[in-house]
Amino acid sequence: MRHPDSPPIAPDAPWLAPLAGFSDLPFRLLCREHGAAVAVTEMVSAKGLCHDSPGTDDLLATTPADAPLVVQLFGSEPQYIERAMTALLERGFRWFDLNAGCPVRKVVKTGAGAALHNTPDLLVDIAGRMAALAGPGRCGVKLRRGWAAGQDNYLELGRRLADAGTAWLALHPRHARQGYGGEADWSCLAALVRAVDVPVLASGDLFTPEAGVRCLRETGAAGVMFARGALHGPSIFARHSALLAGRELPAPSPAELAAVIRRHAALAREHLRERHALLQMRTIVPRYVRHMPGSRALRARLVHCRTWEELDGLVCAFLLDRPQQ
Ligand SMILES: Cc1cc2nc3c(=O)[nH]c(=O)nc-3n(C[C@H](O)[C@H](O)[C@H](O)COP(=O)(O)O)c2cc1C
Repeated sequence: MRHPDSPPIAPDAPWLAPLAGFSDLPFRLLCREHGAAVAVTEMVSAKGLCHDSPGTDDLLATTPADAPLVVQLFGSEPQYIERAMTALLERGFRWFDLNAGCPVRKVVKTGAGAALHNTPDLLVDIAGRMAALAGPGRCGVKLRRGWAAGQDNYLELGRRLADAGTAWLALHPRHARQGYGGEADWSCLAALVRAVDVPVLASGDLFTPEAGVRCLRETGAAGVMFARGALHGPSIFARHSALLAGRELPAPSPAELAAVIRRHAALAREHLRERHALLQMRTIVPRYVRHMPGSRALRARLVHCRTWEELDGLVCAFLLDRPQQ
């Protein structure tokens, strides 16, 4: 059961998943404009936040339109997690998530992210402290299925976390060792749904609106989070909700894609440092057009873009000046 103070969790309330390097303020706002009901920040280091590390403030940049917002923390030291939570609560943040799924070496070597699967007592302790500080309904945990094949412990962890006050569980059903390779095993989602009485958010290989709807039906998950699917095109949120309601929205036309890219660029210019925004758009644009012939050549040209005018010129030439199919 969803706690009344939790962020929206429902089949037709798709979340934007945490995406380090991508789920920044401009992208969150863009996804909300396209129907994301909730967005999660990039993962934020609890220790970094306590030490005012450069960049942490950028990760926490937000605006009133950027709501409801879940702040994702990573860390393995309870004292830093508590200090970070206190600081975040003072700054007015209301919803939180603990990262227990990141497989990146830099993170797991500190015992954080997916490495918390290997220290279950510590994971439950940290999540319990976060939930106690935030209040009922306000804290989730994002899990993998386990550290490596044969070491699944998401069911046991899920039950213990729910008992410790975790209000929702997000599961990306790959082992940490798999990184993003192989396939996500949605049957783990169904098993977790059966095992716990808190809502389960599904993650993993949700690349299309159809996959989102099928995952909900096959697993009984309370909701979905789109990750790489959103990076390929934020229209996935509205298309998912429409499909659930029985309406199939077409994939965006080239002209609509150009409009999405221009809107993303405008939000990036408004909210990020100019140079960073341009560098970021050079990597974002190829994702939006990756399914179209010629996208590799466009990627190669974008790398040399030095100004917004050049970027816009390339996008227009690619999307708007192509023969209609
Ligand atoms: C570039 C990238 C960055 C990610 N960053 C985070 C992160 O900061 N925190 C987190 O919990 N998961 C992170 N993830 C995992 C996603 O939230 C999601 O669980 C995963 O990509 C599986 O969903 P998908 O197969 O539909 O993309 C990241 C994934 C990608 C591809």
